[in-house]
Amino acid sequence: MKELDLSKIETALASYRDRSDLILLLQRVQELYGYLPISVLSKIEGVIGVSGAEIFGVATFYTQFKLKPSGKNIVKVCHGTACHVAGSERVEEALRRHLKAEGDEPTADGLFSIERVACLGCCSLAPVVMVNNRVCGRVKPSIIKNVIKDEKNKDREKDH
Ligand code: FES
Repeated sequence: MKELDLSKIETALASYRDRSDLILLLQRVQELYGYLPISVLSKIEGVIGVSGAEIFGVATFYTQFKLKPSGKNIVKVCHGTACHVAGSERVEEALRRHLKAEGDEPTADGLFSIERVACLGCCSLAPVVMVNNRVCGRVKPSIIKNVIKDEKNKDREKDH
C-alpha cells in the first residue's frame, strides 16, 4: 500500500487553532486525501484540543466525511422520490452488475465508487445519475454501459 504524504496536512494544520475549527479541518483533510485516513486523524489529535474519540465522533456523524478511500470516479445514483418512481433501483442494479461493485467499496480497478444519494435537484430528468460533476438524466439500465464507457474514455484522454 502506498505511503500517505503527511506533509500535506502538517502544512495545513497551522491554519486551524481550536476545537471550533474541527469540521473545517476535517473538510480540508478530505479535500487533500479524498477521505479521512486514520494516520492523518491521529496527527490532528490534540493539535486543536480535541481527542481522538471526538474526532471520530464528528467524522462518523456527518455523511459528508468518508473514512475509506473512494474510487477515482464517483457515480451517484439518485434515490429521491422522483428518481425512485422512475426506476432508480433498476439503474443502480445495472450499474453494480456492470462494474461488479458492492456497497461503497471502490471497484477492483479503483476507477469507480457508487453512492446512493437523495434528490440531486433535477427531478424532471429522473432517474438521474451523476458521474463526478456530470449529470446524466433519464438514465435507463440499458445505457449504463455507455455512461461508464464515456467516463473511461474521458479518463484516458486526461491521462494523455
Ligand atoms: S429525486 Fe432524483 S433528482 Fe430529484
